[in-house]
Amino acid sequence: MPTAPITFSVQSQRTGDSPISALIQQALSTPGLISFAAGLVDEPSLPVTETRDAAAALLSDPRTARAALQYGSTPGYRPLREKVLNLVCTADGITPEAIATTADEVLLTSGSQQLLYLLGEALCNPGDIVITEAPSYFVYHGVLASQGVRVLTVPMDAGGLDLTALEELLLRLEHTGELRKVRLIYTVDYFQNPTGLTLAAERRPQLLALAQRFSTDHRILILEDAAYRELRYGTEDLPSIKRYDTRNAFVIYTSTFSKPCAPGFRTGYALVPRELMQPLCNLKSNHDFGSSNLTQHLLDHLVGSGVYARQAEKVRAVYRKKKDCIVQALEQEFADWPAVQWTNPTGGFYVWLTLPPHLNAGPSGELVKRAVEQGVIYVPGAFAHVPDTFGETVRNNEIRLCFGIATEEQISEGIRRLRAACRGLEQPQAHAKPRECVTT
Ligand SMILES: Cc1ncc(COP(=O)(O)O)c(C=O)c1O
Repeated sequence: MPTAPITFSVQSQRTGDSPISALIQQALSTPGLISFAAGLVDEPSLPVTETRDAAAALLSDPRTARAALQYGSTPGYRPLREKVLNLVCTADGITPEAIATTADEVLLTSGSQQLLYLLGEALCNPGDIVITEAPSYFVYHGVLASQGVRVLTVPMDAGGLDLTALEELLLRLEHTGELRKVRLIYTVDYFQNPTGLTLAAERRPQLLALAQRFSTDHRILILEDAAYRELRYGTEDLPSIKRYDTRNAFVIYTSTFSKPCAPGFRTGYALVPRELMQPLCNLKSNHDFGSSNLTQHLLDHLVGSGVYARQAEKVRAVYRKKKDCIVQALEQEFADWPAVQWTNPTGGFYVWLTLPPHLNAGPSGELVKRAVEQGVIYVPGAFAHVPDTFGETVRNNEIRLCFGIATEEQISEGIRRLRAACRGLEQPQAHAKPRECVTT
């Protein structure tokens, strides 16, 4: 008898593989390929010795070892939650009271990715709306698609999310009666994945004010994803949006130990409005009864002993050098082609390259094939855009370059190969404009 098919849930059918999985597979299976694709961190600077020492200290005492090897609690290890709150408030130069937040409103998650997922479960029904930046973190778009959430987008400029465009969108939704479906406004406000852009200081309180103004019959929350905040290597730190949320009512602030420390810890954290905490914990306990307790004890040790702060300092210097290296390589290789532009971030590890509009750098375009032939891969910028109901067209002439894992030699060589892949695809530009590079 033939085996009957498995019937999959609607959610499973809505859930696709990450668009960059195929690219990563290609990178792994092609020797010598230089990858600017996956957002992997620098490897030589990972805290190997420090983690080994912390693990030895933790496990050498049976009492601390047993505590770490037992189940933990759903919201996470309390001392680490307190330290996380302290980290965020210190960065903002405030006390926890200034944002009406205690460790009770801090949730530790399995990477900040889990928080993004849980929030969708807690807040959104299929057909509800989340507003994101265009372009934005495409993995989050995948989460929202899986949950049946509609994504509407707002363009960005050199100062990040365009608040005039956001206001227009909110007014339009008010007019069409769809404002009631808006649950979240999502912003990656420091050195954004994928563009490297940062939300300008003056826009931060303004964004909060907009969310408050349009929260007439239900609250429109801001999801502030500060995943790259601690990878700042340029100017001074900017205040978070959370910093202005003095009643802890509108802003969910999430960040992660992945970028400044190690993604293998799979530990992220969030400061959330009080009413959200219990529903999130209820959902999280369906997932896992709490994230890895052992990892949280280790991180508590690393943060408490000052190792974490030193590690963050160390990786900032590493990424600063790599950013200088990629920008220098771009300036050199594309010097003869002024129509090509790129961002020049002051933190994080992404550069966003914009080619002339005629050039198709998209997943089925000519450039991606040629790049692989030359031995380099990138993420087509199209993956980070969502065609929305208001007719945003997905641009195909943009590229995300991640310089997290490549060495400086690979960065220079990779950009040389990318330029080689473009040869013959340039159109002569009679009156090319001088290059404008965006510094964030
Ligand atoms: C903007 C952004 N948010 C969240 C995440 C999730 O990171 P993690 O789950 O490792 O904390 C990433 C990962 O690359 C990211 O780029």
